[in-house]
Amino acid sequence: MASSKRPLQCLLKRALGTRSFCALPKKSSASPSSSSEELMRMEHEYSAHNYHPIPMVFSQAKGTCIWDPEGHKYIDFLSAYSAVNQGHCHPKVMKALVEQAERLTLSSRAFYNDKFPVLAEYLTHLFGYDMVLPMNTGAEGVETGLKLARKWGYEKKKIPKNEAIIVSCCGCFHGRTLGAISMSCDNDATRGFGPLVPGHLKVDFGDIDALEKIFKDHGDQICGFLFEPIQGEAGVIVPPDGYLKAVRNLCSKHNILMIADEIQTGIARTGKMLACEWENIRPDVVILGKALGAGVLPVSAVLADKDIMLCIKPGEHGSTFGGNPLASAVAIAALNVVKDEGLIERAATMGQEFRDQLRNVQMRFPEIIKEVRGRGLLNAVEMNNKALFPASAYDVCLKLKERGILAKPTHDTIIRLAPPLCISLEELKEASKALSDVLETDLPKMQKQIPDSKVAAASEACDRCGRVLHD
Ligand SMILES: Cc1ncc(COP(=O)(O)O)c(C=O)c1O
Repeated sequence: MASSKRPLQCLLKRALGTRSFCALPKKSSASPSSSSEELMRMEHEYSAHNYHPIPMVFSQAKGTCIWDPEGHKYIDFLSAYSAVNQGHCHPKVMKALVEQAERLTLSSRAFYNDKFPVLAEYLTHLFGYDMVLPMNTGAEGVETGLKLARKWGYEKKKIPKNEAIIVSCCGCFHGRTLGAISMSCDNDATRGFGPLVPGHLKVDFGDIDALEKIFKDHGDQICGFLFEPIQGEAGVIVPPDGYLKAVRNLCSKHNILMIADEIQTGIARTGKMLACEWENIRPDVVILGKALGAGVLPVSAVLADKDIMLCIKPGEHGSTFGGNPLASAVAIAALNVVKDEGLIERAATMGQEFRDQLRNVQMRFPEIIKEVRGRGLLNAVEMNNKALFPASAYDVCLKLKERGILAKPTHDTIIRLAPPLCISLEELKEASKALSDVLETDLPKMQKQIPDSKVAAASEACDRCGRVLHD
């Protein structure tokens, strides 16, 4: 057993790095036995290995800043995959949480409670839909959207029994339940978990002609088209202008539900309340999650009009915790913060500023940085595989971490940069400078240190549709 721990300990030692950090404002309560190294060792030993985290332990956080148990300070450029749009531990959300927690936390939907109806009215009015179905995680929200589409397909569109099809996009990410991975093109997500849920077709994201062909060929059986308005996990892929509008038209023409997964893109992240607003379109079904709970509690919600939503009857779908009063109070506060603090406008202006800064870095390293892209504060830097070799985006993120910037790669060459929307100009500059410094100083050293034997991971074709999305 001991020998299997050694490589991890070596990795942790290397990864903990040497940067000198600002101290935590108040004394950390971390004891010597809960050092970063020990905590990471414990997690590795006792938790399933279903993630490959950047080796940094969150111990305390406020706004855009995070401290590890040793008191080192970092700036968050992931926001828990856009769940912390409002900033960590926002005081107004925490107040709502504490006040509600002292009064009532759970009724289950076996009864009514005095908070969920208030959230339901707020959400439906804010987003302009008749009704909401509350869940907890994003994947549950997606599952709800899929079930709703099938039910509507049989009841309203009169698709013959068990023949309904849902179309999703190559490169999509909709979560990790069996239903959600059944939409996926990610071999890691799908291999070893078959058989996947049937009744599914794939189409290239952004290709309206391909979608039209599928709708023409199978339209009578298709109940829904599930998509992300900007593909997050795929590497912040923004579709061509006019795509969302064209999708809206095709869905209307073929009587197919347009189902927008706004779990990552929604709640102000892209500089609009919903990313679909970039093309002024109204999907039939909108799925929200992540920042609806302000990074405090898992809260997801599916919005639709009555002719769709009422296809689901009592007992046919639900969740013990969905619509619980604690989550409802948090979600109300989370939405109020977005509105009161002008986070939509802030994401738009700061995002533009950030992309300008990153493009300046790209001009300094045109061989390494292939593209800077994004909307609002959902951005990505895509690097050139050959120029990085034998390093990867993960190695670049390790070095960013040593310089106090927390970001996570997606695929081998892409770094997603999505800070809390309360990020300051100075902090954006710090991140751009850190990236520039890593590419100038750290990357050449890493390229010498990483063994030559490391072979560049060839991008595999998707098992399901045969496409290679990243090379
Ligand atoms: C677009 C999208 N849909 C669904 C999910 C799944 O959400 P959760 O992890 O809360 O289940 C995610 C998570 O990253 C996501 O980005």
